[in-house]
Amino acid sequence: MSLQDLRQSYDVPPLDPADLAADPFDQFAAWFSAAQSAGLREPNAMTLATADAQGTPSARVVLLKGVDAAKVADRGFVFYTNYGSDKASDLDQNPKAALNFHWDDHPRAVRTVRIAGAVTKVSAQETKDYFQSRPRGSQIGAWCSNQSQAIASRAVLETRQRELEAQHPGDAPLPVPPFWGGYRVSPISFEFWQGQQSRLHDRFRYTLEQGAWRIDRLAP
Ligand SMILES: Cc1cc2nc3c(=O)[nH]c(=O)nc-3n(C[C@H](O)[C@H](O)[C@H](O)COP(=O)(O)O)c2cc1C
Repeated sequence: MSLQDLRQSYDVPPLDPADLAADPFDQFAAWFSAAQSAGLREPNAMTLATADAQGTPSARVVLLKGVDAAKVADRGFVFYTNYGSDKASDLDQNPKAALNFHWDDHPRAVRTVRIAGAVTKVSAQETKDYFQSRPRGSQIGAWCSNQSQAIASRAVLETRQRELEAQHPGDAPLPVPPFWGGYRVSPISFEFWQGQQSRLHDRFRYTLEQGAWRIDRLAP
């Protein structure tokens, strides 16, 4: 089948604005829970878009590792990465980002959530708590990788991995690499999109206005 013939019809009831939560963090929690129940392999995988000081965009997938919905201030979406990576360089120059979740649990629904906001680093303690909760192999992996730098071969990584395993025998967690940590995207807008028939999809955008969330329906 050619790409031009690849398309799906979305056969679920329209999204009723009366069913939307007033707070987009609550709406996100409801849809995330549905995506998890649908058995999606990585519902917390999200596309992270950044841009450098010249506005050159870049997008890649990262894993959502925390949502601070209950806080009054500093609410946001947390991911972890290498602070020397290309994405970190973009965020140093231009601390704003967009996130996109795509949950394709057809036949029930196809949904996306878009989030945009300002980005800050999480505290060293928050990074440490998360880093030390990771499997040991992932801790060593973080130490091994100068993320986004050119390397000569896979052997470079595997040699470094063996060295680190020898340096840190036993089960004790490794210290956090000084070049690694979390970022929090603090949303100023959310969009919840649900596929409908004949491309008349449902879209609802939440925007933060003077501390309150305004909801608008958008044309598909
Ligand atoms: C499912 C999935 C999850 C990923 N999760 C992360 C993550 O949480 N953190 C991360 O730094 N990279 C993650 N990656 C790798 C990134 O997509 C990307 O290759 C890497 O972060 C380098 O991006 P950059 O060069 O733009 O900084 C993930 C990739 C996939 C496919």
